[in-house]
Amino acid sequence: MARFTLPRDIYHGKGALETLKTLKGKKAMICVGGGSMKRNGFLDKAESYLKEAGMEVSIFEGIEPDPSVDTVMKGAAAMQEFGPDWIVAIGGGSPIDAAKAMWIKYEYPDCTFEDMCKIFGIPELRKKAHFCAISSTSGTATEVTAFSIITDYKKGIKYPIADFEITPDIAIVDPELAHTMPKKLVAHTGMDAITHAIEAYVSTANSAYADSLAIHAIELIQGNLVKSYNDDMNARDVMHDAQCLAGMAFSNALLGIVHSMAHKTGAAFDDHGAHIIHGAANAMYLPKVIAFNAKDETAKKRYGVIADYMGLGGSNDDEKVKLLIKYLRGMNDDLNIPHCIKNYGADSFPTEQGFVPEEVFKERLHDIAANAILDACTGSNPRQPSQEEMEKLLLCCYYDTEVDF
Ligand SMILES: NC(=O)c1ccc[n+]([C@@H]2O[C@H](COP(=O)([O-])OP(=O)(O)OC[C@H]3O[C@@H](n4cnc5c(N)ncnc54)[C@H](O)[C@@H]3O)[C@@H](O)[C@H]2O)c1
Ligand SMILES: [Zn+2]
Repeated sequence: MARFTLPRDIYHGKGALETLKTLKGKKAMICVGGGSMKRNGFLDKAESYLKEAGMEVSIFEGIEPDPSVDTVMKGAAAMQEFGPDWIVAIGGGSPIDAAKAMWIKYEYPDCTFEDMCKIFGIPELRKKAHFCAISSTSGTATEVTAFSIITDYKKGIKYPIADFEITPDIAIVDPELAHTMPKKLVAHTGMDAITHAIEAYVSTANSAYADSLAIHAIELIQGNLVKSYNDDMNARDVMHDAQCLAGMAFSNALLGIVHSMAHKTGAAFDDHGAHIIHGAANAMYLPKVIAFNAKDETAKKRYGVIADYMGLGGSNDDEKVKLLIKYLRGMNDDLNIPHCIKNYGADSFPTEQGFVPEEVFKERLHDIAANAILDACTGSNPRQPSQEEMEKLLLCCYYDTEVDF
């Protein structure tokens, strides 16, 4: 038996933000990031719509990108004090993920961060508040997922919290919020979305329900991501829906080791000024992981199906896998994303020698590989890597060398 869970309601299309006027409750706490929602007027709109719904509104702002355990604890304390019956998170993956973790702590004040990280171990929520998520980036789809990613900066590790309890009650997917994204964010979040769809499709937890969403998401992203990056706003609108479809797929079919590796390398080189942005990490590692996973016959067939839907040609599955890898690398080029960590430079643009020195990478390789194997996303990957294989794979992601094992 398997379970397929989504928010009760998904409001989508231009003007969907106005749905906030219809929420029923007494007190809403808006959780938001550093300023883009404020600058672009969406925070004001959200606040006034909630007031129109008759609610008292409090705002918790300043949630940083890749939110920390500290921020989660601070936000939960603010919730304890205000006592909202609605939590309304607006912004990119970071503020929405942080708000999900705050929600758990608000409902269960004794719950520690370690308790939250027990996969599918969250107690029943919604005793105090319901949750509405409004996404402003086109990638994480956290507005519809059962996940929240919080960084423990003391350990330099991102931890996924995973449970259908934290799947929001309401998702608002209004493309107008995505119009203000800078190009780089479009590129990163878009590659995150295609990684979600591809990993979900080949995951061992795949299902007919998730497959249909993943495949259609891949087709839409193929047709629209590069256009959206080049400021085509119709394509930007399509991408906002596409990333949400990909999210509905992976929230249920789970992910694979591209995400395990991205989670464990993301903050591992912060001391060298090299925060590896989630979407950029995925974009670099995805082609390598496809080559690794394609040694598994079932995964190879599934990559072949993806290549067929994308119209990439190829007369057998081996050729199709190669064409898929080539296509994805071409997308990285079109989006100005490097192919490997060695070339990961300022602002995530490709450069000859990036932030992470060779010797530092090698020094940390063993621990990163061990942590990646333990990541919650590894279990549903179609091929289970050994420590030695994971280290080899990470080295290929560092040097952009071919995966032939
Ligand atoms: N919960 C999940 O299912 C899931 C899935 C994948 C990734 N994640 C996590 O989500 C986080 C990344 O989220 P993200 O990629 O959405 O970015 P983000 O939320 O970290 O935002 C990045 C930056 O973009 C700005 N921004 C956001 N929306 C904007 C807009 N419309 N216009 C202008 N600027 C805008 C923000 O202010 C911030 O400075 C990571 O921590 C990642 O690990 C979560
Ligand atoms: Zn992701």
